[in-house]
Amino acid sequence: MNWEQWSAVDRYINETLVQENSALNEALRSNAAADLPAIDVSPAQGRQLQLLARMIGARRILEVGTLGGYSTIWMARALPDDGALISFEAEPRYADVAVANVAHAELADRVDIRVGDAHELFPKLIAEQPEPFDFVFIDADKQSNPEYFRWALDVTRSGGVIVVDNVIRNGAIVDDPDDPGSRGARELHELLGREPRVSATTIQTVGSKGWDGFAIALVN
Ligand code: DHB
Ligand code: MG
Repeated sequence: MNWEQWSAVDRYINETLVQENSALNEALRSNAAADLPAIDVSPAQGRQLQLLARMIGARRILEVGTLGGYSTIWMARALPDDGALISFEAEPRYADVAVANVAHAELADRVDIRVGDAHELFPKLIAEQPEPFDFVFIDADKQSNPEYFRWALDVTRSGGVIVVDNVIRNGAIVDDPDDPGSRGARELHELLGREPRVSATTIQTVGSKGWDGFAIALVN
């Protein structure tokens, strides 16, 4: 099996059951027009995040790494009208694009995009003593995943779910353990394995984004 076949199957899944609507497609178009890196979740993965959030009745979602807001829109659509999604983005230019995409998707009333380094935004958020989050999606700089996960755990309710993107990276987690991203992924797995507050697994994925995986942790 190769990347082209994985992508063809992803296209089939998208055509038959994901069927994303115009605001999501337009978000991808404006991201490309603004020269953002095309590293968004795939449509099928966006739907997966949305379904996970709906499965646990998420009312409050936290995202680390907004990029152009594509995953943000998928997840915000899982929220009830009075729900809220906070998303951290380090790059102001990306955040501007995301704010416009979210507004175009008519979700501005429930999405709060905060610009800055998550290493500063997390302590600030925790100081606000936020109502606990139900669902957290971590998809930013990969070497910081262990720190982001620890902070996420501090603000997630029991029964909540934390998902971390890109933990496999073409097998680099095993093949290239000294890569900074792999070190982050390995430290995250060691943490997940010994942390009594969560039950976790990692699902390997193939598709239009190659071979990768999501770590999924349920807060006990
Ligand atoms: C990269 C980052 C991502 O979050 C992703 O899903 C794929 C690739 C990257 O930095 O290359
Ligand atoms: Mg990612």
